[in-house]
Amino acid sequence: MPDNINLEHFWMPFTANRQFKSRPRMLVGAQGMHYITDDGRRILDGTAGLWCVNAGHGHPKIVQAIQQQAAALDYGPLFQMGHPRAFEAASALVSIAPEGLNRVFFCNDGSEAVDSALKIALAYHRARGDGLRTRLIGRERAYHGVGFGGIAVGGIAGNRKHFGPTLAGVDHLRHPLDIARNAFSRGLPEHGAEIADELEQRLLALHDPSTVAAVIVEPLQGSTGVILPPKGYLQKLRAICDRHGILLIFDEVITGFGRLGTAFAADYFGVVPDMIVCAKGLTNAAVPMGAVIVRQDIHDAFMAAAPENTIEFFHGYTYSGHPLAAAAAVAAIGVYREEGLFDRAAAMAPYFEDAAHSLKGLPWVKDVRNLGLVCGIELESVPGKPTARAVDVFLKCFWDKNVLIRTTGDIIALSPPLIIDKPQIDELFGAIGDVLKHQQATPSPEAVEQLP
Ligand SMILES: Cc1ncc(COP(=O)(O)O)c(C=O)c1O
Repeated sequence: MPDNINLEHFWMPFTANRQFKSRPRMLVGAQGMHYITDDGRRILDGTAGLWCVNAGHGHPKIVQAIQQQAAALDYGPLFQMGHPRAFEAASALVSIAPEGLNRVFFCNDGSEAVDSALKIALAYHRARGDGLRTRLIGRERAYHGVGFGGIAVGGIAGNRKHFGPTLAGVDHLRHPLDIARNAFSRGLPEHGAEIADELEQRLLALHDPSTVAAVIVEPLQGSTGVILPPKGYLQKLRAICDRHGILLIFDEVITGFGRLGTAFAADYFGVVPDMIVCAKGLTNAAVPMGAVIVRQDIHDAFMAAAPENTIEFFHGYTYSGHPLAAAAAVAAIGVYREEGLFDRAAAMAPYFEDAAHSLKGLPWVKDVRNLGLVCGIELESVPGKPTARAVDVFLKCFWDKNVLIRTTGDIIALSPPLIIDKPQIDELFGAIGDVLKHQQATPSPEAVEQLP
């Protein structure tokens, strides 16, 4: 690490700061499928950064688009003003969105996109004169970012418990992970669609459906350790929401932009929500950006409710539709299309699945689950030290195998760039397999409990 870097001042996000600073893992460059570390190693990126660099690192077309935009118009306000790139980015996004979702609200990341979608849902019902619909329903173990709306509908205890009661009027569905019935499923699990019924039978019965504004779910729960929807589950949620006039929001922050081999998970499942929340791959992560893609009539309800010449939706960010982000989004969506990356992901998924399931039977492997280019490998926890086992594997992969993986709890979550090839898939799972084969019952002291 360069001598002039002081590690003290930066309070790192979602990081065991003291542990990191005792032995920093520094990335100084990236190209294609690899990161470069400060000690000159090439690290295979098994996680597309944080589920976001879908076209691989440093794509020249995206780099160039950002450079040119910075030179032409570095910033332009979008409150009562406009710049063409933001409109172009919205149209590009609509061009790959499911039919009928054709109005785009921009923000800066997934958390803001979630909070924006929740606000749109609440304000939409009010605009229609149905202002009693104020309840929001999320799900256990859901991750919807870190805004107060997102942690309220989210269901990861560690992300909520330090911050008080968050929003009122929120309830949660049970999550559908059921290892006892579905362990080592390839693709969608067979069992558990009936868990969706509790939306109607338990939550709507309890709260009265006419008070519920929206249900928000990740079609595939990623950050919490890859929880897949059982076959038929999302279709049931859609039907229940339809029966009761409740909006269904898909948080596609990680499933958007080809992760499942289709533009959005909505396409993969054939279930069209009323709004899609996205971010990450929207710009290939080169500039922060989030978006809510909204059904036209939801947008139109706002236009109809507000008097002429007035603001229809009192919400927005200084950097909504930022020129650099918008340029990156236009370029990234162009790259996805020109290089056929969503189809490539679909074509590579069976090989990825086989490689993932080759870990079955190795020490500590309790479950492997996968879909598209996503895989979760759940490990037996060390008694009394949750997370220690997976963190140990993460550290060994990074230091000894030159492979970047991500862990959450005792689950390894993999989501490589969509450009990964077969030898790289072999390298990724080979490294994890090697580390697991040599895993001691008690991980090294460096592997401390550190994740929420
Ligand atoms: C499903 C989902 N929603 C929201 C977010 C939050 O996104 P951000 O970190 O860009 O705020 C994430 C981040 O991983 C996510 O996975």
